[in-house]
Amino acid sequence: MHAFVLSGSFGLENVSRVELPTPKPGHGQLAVRVRAASLNYRDLLITRGWYNPKLNMPAAFGSDLAGEVIAVGPGVSRFQVGDRVTGCFFPGWTDGPVTDTKVKSSLGDGWQPGALSQEVVLPEEGLVASPSCLTDEECATLPCAALTAWNALFEQSAIMPGETVLTLGTGGVSLFALQFAKAAGAKVMITSSQSDKLERAAKLGADVGINYSTEPNWDGPVCEHTGGIGADHVIELGGAGTMATSIRAVKRGGVISLIGVLSGLGQIDPMPILMRSIRLQGIFVGSRAMFERMNRAIEMHNIKPVIGRVFPFEETPAALAYMESGSHFGKIVIRVS
Ligand SMILES: NC(=O)c1ccc[n+]([C@@H]2O[C@H](COP(=O)([O-])OP(=O)(O)OC[C@H]3O[C@@H](n4cnc5c(N)ncnc54)[C@H](OP(=O)(O)O)[C@@H]3O)[C@@H](O)[C@H]2O)c1
Repeated sequence: MHAFVLSGSFGLENVSRVELPTPKPGHGQLAVRVRAASLNYRDLLITRGWYNPKLNMPAAFGSDLAGEVIAVGPGVSRFQVGDRVTGCFFPGWTDGPVTDTKVKSSLGDGWQPGALSQEVVLPEEGLVASPSCLTDEECATLPCAALTAWNALFEQSAIMPGETVLTLGTGGVSLFALQFAKAAGAKVMITSSQSDKLERAAKLGADVGINYSTEPNWDGPVCEHTGGIGADHVIELGGAGTMATSIRAVKRGGVISLIGVLSGLGQIDPMPILMRSIRLQGIFVGSRAMFERMNRAIEMHNIKPVIGRVFPFEETPAALAYMESGSHFGKIVIRVS
C-alpha cells in the first residue's frame, strides 16, 4: 500500500509517495481502506516544519480520512467489515474533558498513521460511523475543521437563534462555522480577502460579508451590523495578527473562540480582554462524542460540506501547494482510492 510521507527534511518538495507494509489490525483495532482524505492548514504547518520542528522523519501526515472497514481485529464490536467510517482527529479522546493524554493521540503528526495512506489501522474507539447523507469525500472534511467549528459554537458555548457570529476567512473551519451558525438561527458575518468569495459565502447564507483587504478595520462594519454592540461570538482564525481587531469586534461580555494562527504568532494585549469582560476560549478540535453529536445535526439539517477542489491521490503535493496559495474556498479533498 502507498502513503504520502514527509521524508528527509521539511518542505513541500520532500512530500513523497512511498510503499509501506500493509498494516494488520490487532486487538480492538480495524483496518480501513481510505477512500478520501482532506487537508487542513495544520498539514501545511507540519510539512513546512512550523508545527513541530523536531518531527522525526519520515513522518506521516494528514489527520482527516473516511473510508470502508476491510478487516477487524479480535475484540472489535462497534464496526464490521463493509461499514463506512470516518476517523477521529484524536482517536484517544472519546468523551469528557480534554486531557494531555487524549490530545497526544492526534493523527497525522508523525507518530500515528497519516490520512494520506491507502490503508490505515486504527482503534475502533477512534472512528465514527459515516453519515449516510454524505459521500466519503464529504465525510473526510469533518474530523478537524467541522468538529472544531462545532465545538466552539455548541460545546464550549451555546449559540442561540438571533445571536451574531463573526467568522474569519473562507477556509474550512470558517465555512463550517457559517453553516452551523446559520442552522442554529444566528446572524453570520464573514470576512474574506476576495469579493468573489464573499459572494459565494452569501449564497451559503452569510448575512454580511466584509473584505478585510479593502477594510482592514473590519471591526467597524461588524459594529455597524450589530447596532453598535459587536458580535456575540467571534471565530478567531487569524491569531495574533487579527486578535486586536477581533477584540474590538466582539461585544462586551462576548466570546472569542481562539482557533487559528493564519496571520502568525505574537503578543496579545490582555487589558481590553479583561476590561470588556470578554471570554477568550482556546479550542482544540474535539472528542468523538462531540463528533457524533455534530453528525446528528449535519443529518438533521442536511448540511453539505463545502469542497473547494478535489485532487487525485498522486497529486497530494500539488494539493498542499494549492492550499498554500490561499485560492481555495472551503475544503481541499484528496481522492485516495
Ligand atoms: N484549534 C484547532 O483545533 C484548529 C482546528 C482546525 C484549524 N485550526 C487552525 O485554524 C486556521 C484555519 O484553518 P483551516 O484549515 O480552516 O484553513 P484554510 O482552509 O487553509 O483557510 C485559509 C483561509 O483563511 C483566510 N485567511 C488567511 N489569512 C487570513 C488572515 N490573516 N485573516 C483572516 N483570514 C485569513 C483565507 O480566506 P480568504 O481567501 O477568504 O481571505 C484563507 O483562504 C489555521 O490556523 C489552522 O491551523 C485550528
